[in-house]
Amino acid sequence: MIVAPSLLAADFANLADSVAMVDRSEAAMVHCDVMDGVFVPNISFGFPVIEAVSRITAKPLDVHLMITDPARYVNRVRDCGAYMMNVHVEACTHLHRTIESIHQAGMKAAVTLNPATPVMSLCEIISDLDMVLLMSVDPGFGGQSFIPATINKIRRLRALICETGSKAMIEVDGGINADTARMCADAGADVLVAGSAVFKAADPCAVIADMAHLNDITLADFA
Ligand code: DX5
Ligand code: ZN
Repeated sequence: MIVAPSLLAADFANLADSVAMVDRSEAAMVHCDVMDGVFVPNISFGFPVIEAVSRITAKPLDVHLMITDPARYVNRVRDCGAYMMNVHVEACTHLHRTIESIHQAGMKAAVTLNPATPVMSLCEIISDLDMVLLMSVDPGFGGQSFIPATINKIRRLRALICETGSKAMIEVDGGINADTARMCADAGADVLVAGSAVFKAADPCAVIADMAHLNDITLADFA
């Protein structure tokens, strides 16, 4: 399993220590949650923090933009060192053009769906995507409870990916812990984002390792 710990739950006063822990762990990516206070009712951190994280980590950055009109920032995100630029379908008027410009900038392109947004909203674009992120909570805050309907949504997304021959990974974000991680793995998830379950744990590397061993999927399978 590809595990992407979310720095949103890290201790920002000791961010370098948190990043060093992720680097030592079996995590495959670092998940950075950007919130603008408009698309979601919270503000987290922005480009200077992502750029600083990029300088000290060896792991690729999965930048999840919970912001309106993210297309404005494609080059800024690339310049921060992002591997994957992750935009919400609900925030993009011209999604096809946005995905093209993310690819032109040299990044992997991911699209995120809020819990109430149907999988079929991606049916015309799924072949162009490197990853689809299914939100398993309403975005904006860490520490929320996993929405159980996400499990069937993972299965529907897996069916769409198989049917279209898309190479997209399936990522799930929100309320991921040992129990929900297993449920997502069984339903067909490739990537799990975990914030609180990792950073509030006594042994964060062990939590990451348990999730990473849920299946044999690695980032190299999608390179
Ligand atoms: C929520 C963010 C998540 C969040 C997950 O809006 O997109 O990445 O950090 O946090 P947990 O794992 O605590 O639900
Ligand atoms: Zn996220």
